[in-house]
Amino acid sequence: MLTVHTVADLRAALEPHPDWTLVPTMGNLHAGHLGLIARARQENVPVVASIFVNRLQFGPNEDFDRYPRTLPHDAALLADAGCDLLFAPDEAEMYPQPQTFRVLPDPAIAGILDGAARPGHFEGVATVVMKLFQMVQPRHAVFGKKDYQQLLLIRRMVEQFALPITIIGLDTVRADDGLALSSRNGYLTPEERAQAPQLQAALRALAEDARSATAPEQIHLLEQQAMTRLDQLGWTPDYLTLRRRADLQPPTAQDLHRGTPCVALAAARLGRTRLIDNLEC
Ligand code: PAF
Repeated sequence: MLTVHTVADLRAALEPHPDWTLVPTMGNLHAGHLGLIARARQENVPVVASIFVNRLQFGPNEDFDRYPRTLPHDAALLADAGCDLLFAPDEAEMYPQPQTFRVLPDPAIAGILDGAARPGHFEGVATVVMKLFQMVQPRHAVFGKKDYQQLLLIRRMVEQFALPITIIGLDTVRADDGLALSSRNGYLTPEERAQAPQLQAALRALAEDARSATAPEQIHLLEQQAMTRLDQLGWTPDYLTLRRRADLQPPTAQDLHRGTPCVALAAARLGRTRLIDNLEC
């Protein structure tokens, strides 16, 4: 695997092959990321991964500074996983000037759930992903479903800007006890780590309870009860909610009647760590 740090070297390395599949990451790779690489390889074109901790998508009091940076270890994992090219720019390469031109995502998607809890987050994500797409010009790009809202937003961005890129979403990889793999799991103390699968359990319970609901008010009550239970277990939930998969809006009575595909989504803080997860239902 070749590692490059500049856009010029990236373009030179991409040049011999017409089609690439991109796996964008922020590094500190785990089995979830390696699953994305394995999925990317199925497209039978070379695979390029990017590692860049994107300041634009972190709020002022978030974990940008302490986000784990483990490039040599990540590069070894990617090489073993069969990745062909690694693009690992530094901030000066990615943002040689202040990034004053930004992608402004639709607030109907970017202003709810994680977008409401983390103002500006999805503008930062959309901007860096658009920039990576311009730099790499991949044929396909693979993203994990753990960041469900991010995946929807990127799909919409690609549609609206008519980018010739197929977006592939991959199911979340979980530890044996159900915890979704995430770089932020590394922040958890051993006690918190033991408690962390409660988030997935809360989503399962909400999805199960919502099955017999026929009115949005019932769903709303179930969400309130589920948040209270999480709160009693020592979590600070931002949201725990059932939404339509297609647009992340609350299901209407008609949706509940018709069985419109939904997803239960949650974000909650355990100690100093904010975890997100979801469950399609
Ligand atoms: O999902 C992530 O790791 C990041 O949000 C992404 C897509 C690499 C953009 O920085």
